[in-house]
Amino acid sequence: MTTSHDDRITDLRSDTVTVPGPEMREFMARAEVGDDLMGEDPTVSRLSKHVAAMFGKRHGVFTPSGTMANLLALLVNARRGDHVIVPRGAHVAWYESAGSAVAAGVEVQEVGRDPFFTVQEMEEAIHPAESYYSRTSMVWLENTHNRGGGLIWPVHDMDSIAVRARELGLRVHLDGSRIWNAHVATGVRLSEWAAHVDTMNVCFSKGLGAPVGSMLLVDSDEDLELALRMRKMLGGSMRQSGFLAAAALYAVEHNISRLKEDHARARALASMLRDCELLKVSEPQTNIIMVDLPFLAHDMEHACAREGVLFHAFGPKRIRLVTHMHITEQDVSRAASVIKAAAKGLVR
Ligand SMILES: Cc1ncc(COP(=O)(O)O)c(C=O)c1O
Repeated sequence: MTTSHDDRITDLRSDTVTVPGPEMREFMARAEVGDDLMGEDPTVSRLSKHVAAMFGKRHGVFTPSGTMANLLALLVNARRGDHVIVPRGAHVAWYESAGSAVAAGVEVQEVGRDPFFTVQEMEEAIHPAESYYSRTSMVWLENTHNRGGGLIWPVHDMDSIAVRARELGLRVHLDGSRIWNAHVATGVRLSEWAAHVDTMNVCFSKGLGAPVGSMLLVDSDEDLELALRMRKMLGGSMRQSGFLAAAALYAVEHNISRLKEDHARARALASMLRDCELLKVSEPQTNIIMVDLPFLAHDMEHACAREGVLFHAFGPKRIRLVTHMHITEQDVSRAASVIKAAAKGLVR
């Protein structure tokens, strides 16, 4: 049993809403722990080594959230006043409370067409080395792309960008909070996604179902040292965090391949919703569906919430639906009929 949630609610707001089942809790309770700030938590060390090895990186820095791991990436790869090229709709640009500006002091520029950019678009966005301009020091990738609807940035396209960026002397970070989904959907090995980036963030508390935790993966000892110092500065160094690392270890050991079920449910839900001509439904590549509506998304959100089907508005006339380990086949059918009925009611 990995689920423990209210059966009367179908919660499609995010894959972060999952709660640990009894096996994960048991594994957490048995974790061997120590003071991680003193480098003495054996479970955090085990997780860091294990996940770094999965991605072919040398070091992992455990953080309380993906937001902190991304902020560490900015602090490690860029200096204050630098210019960072990010894909359109990047989580770091939209949903991290301007930490890039406030805490890292960088200028983030969204580049390309929605949601990915090409090598040429990246090259065109690089600032000239003149004093009028901020210094472009970093290129940012996000895979899968959240605001883009869980879309996968093909590994070859990502590689071409990263290789070219590094030839030009830029650092490259991959926000791989949902890289697990890209891996399961394509069969491309985890280490291949990480091959040409300097730093990368992976998250345990989204589709994998751990309650807390992300990890910044880095290669060099200097990046590790800086990331650890910046984590301390931000207040993200934890003590007996092995309890949380144990949940993450359980998640990576048990919950990666099952993501294909979430993807299948997303496809099933999208196909049921397509019966309704009022809804313009995306083609889900992973566990996220975007639906464009002919009326206000907030009205739809509230109408469905009254029937126990939850999701978020993602624009004035767009909603986002996310499948995860608590969403069953029954939930999919129920959500589809509630959403279709609400659409018909709202258009009248
Ligand atoms: C792509 C992406 N990056 C980073 C984050 C931030 O993660 P957290 O909510 O753990 O801070 C999220 C959260 O949904 C995300 O979707």
